[in-house]
Amino acid sequence: MKNSIIKIIKLKEFSQNRGLLSVVEDQTLDINIKRIYFITNVLKSEIRGHHAHFKTIQYLTCLSGSINVMLDDGAHKEEVLLDNPSKLLLVDKLIWHTMEWKTENSVLLVIANSLFDENDYIRNYQLFLKKVGRNEN
Ligand code: TYD
Repeated sequence: MKNSIIKIIKLKEFSQNRGLLSVVEDQTLDINIKRIYFITNVLKSEIRGHHAHFKTIQYLTCLSGSINVMLDDGAHKEEVLLDNPSKLLLVDKLIWHTMEWKTENSVLLVIANSLFDENDYIRNYQLFLKKVGRNEN
């Protein structure tokens, strides 16, 4: 059976009566962190992403609310609901991904191993399939 595309890292967490503190340390991730960005002010049902990266590897976490992430390696599609800030989802290079806001104003935090580079994006699904060797044409 094929391995799942979904890889989740469970963060160290500290939860007393005063809330939940979750920790990402350098050694938590298999990447060198180069960039952190977050997406806020998104309406319910909005879908973002619709791309893959040639090289960039990212970890996603939903800090508040719930976001459904679809990952596609060209052969298989899998979905995972991010609704817990103590979980980081790996989005590897060459994985087509979309993120659907299940709850308005959910906050998505992304940790990446590269600086922003538009040339690292594959925004055309047919080109993506070709790149991962899945284009039948
Ligand atoms: P994009 O990655 O396409 O967002 P999404 O897939 O969530 O819809 O980025 C949206 C815009 O923001 C695009 O014009 C590129 C710009 N951007 C940066 O300039 N730097 C960044 O680090 C990121 C992630 C995006």
